[in-house]
Amino acid sequence: MRACRREPVDVTPVWFMRQAGRYMSEYRALRARHSLLEICRAPDLATEVTLQPVRRIEVDAAILFSDLLLPLEPMGLPFDFVKGEGPQIEHPIETPSDIDRLKVFEPREALRHVLEAIEQIQRELNGRVPLIGFAGAPFTLASYAIEGGHSNNFARTKSLMYGHPEAWHRLCEKFATVIADYLVAQIEAGVDVVQVFDSWVGTLSPADYREFALPHSHRIFQAVAGRVPSIHFGTGTATMFDELREAGGDVIGVDWRVPIDEAWEQIGFDRAVQGNLDPTLLLGPPRRMLDQAEDILERVAGRPGHIFNLGHGILPSTAVENVQMLAQYVHRASRQIR
Ligand code: CP3
Repeated sequence: MRACRREPVDVTPVWFMRQAGRYMSEYRALRARHSLLEICRAPDLATEVTLQPVRRIEVDAAILFSDLLLPLEPMGLPFDFVKGEGPQIEHPIETPSDIDRLKVFEPREALRHVLEAIEQIQRELNGRVPLIGFAGAPFTLASYAIEGGHSNNFARTKSLMYGHPEAWHRLCEKFATVIADYLVAQIEAGVDVVQVFDSWVGTLSPADYREFALPHSHRIFQAVAGRVPSIHFGTGTATMFDELREAGGDVIGVDWRVPIDEAWEQIGFDRAVQGNLDPTLLLGPPRRMLDQAEDILERVAGRPGHIFNLGHGILPSTAVENVQMLAQYVHRASRQIR
């Protein structure tokens, strides 16, 4: 929490995305009995999975176990996770009139189970580490709603964006309204920090980001400003730090495609930064992973406002020992740098 506020800390805090995930045997054991959506919808199970990595790894934050796509269903876009293929939306958005049919819903009713999970997790964490809540940014949510799943070139998304800009903005306004309200509801339920995931926004040019994504993400950051610290996550964003910062976030995510000191200088030292290690390095060899972690810590040089993390989520084939080793290393080495 102090790092989010750019206050001095004695040890660099560290956490990981998908820290609950397929690389942990206790998660796989639970997943053998329940689908991903079942876990997301049952507060007891979501609580258990949220706490698994906190027990096993020296992390300084827990991230709520949920999924970025959950708000799609109550908006009228049911989906499922298909083994080996990832998320699949049943009837993706094709025309502007599909957008008008989307519902703006009350998260305190439709996603009540997520809020209950937050309350239960906070009771069990009992102050041990802060809890990060999260949601998707309008661009990334729109890309799933339009593509129907993952995409490499975002052709459908961009066709709608360029071909029907008014419809695009109507869609993103709906997402911004829903997500702002959902994050406020998560804060009311007790999360300590919120992270907004704009995972695929790096596919846009800075000018297109400014025109098509920035105003909508900005509305979300405005809604949570002054309540709890916010983290603005994206990948492939090295050319648009000015725009990301303008959209908002007390902490700005940085992936591995840019050295963290150069990124921070562009973002501005009045914001905190998070991320930077390539998740692939956790596959080994450990020496290379630790050398790169050391390089990140040296570039940051103890400046207040750094949260150690990966540039994206932990890969399923990662050995849990490497994750443990990395977290321990960050704590030990960052103490020495200070
Ligand atoms: O980090 C955490 O453990 C918190 C839980 C979390 C999940 N999804 C659970 C999950 C978080 C923060 C997310 C966010 C999310 N979901 C994002 C943004 C972060 C990012 O990775 O960029 C996105 C794009 C999604 C949508 C989604 N959910 C995808 C693309 C997939 C991958 C499907 C695949 O087969 O690779 C998921 C599935 C998912 N959500 C898993 C987890 C732990 C995979 C594990 C499983 O299937 O059991």
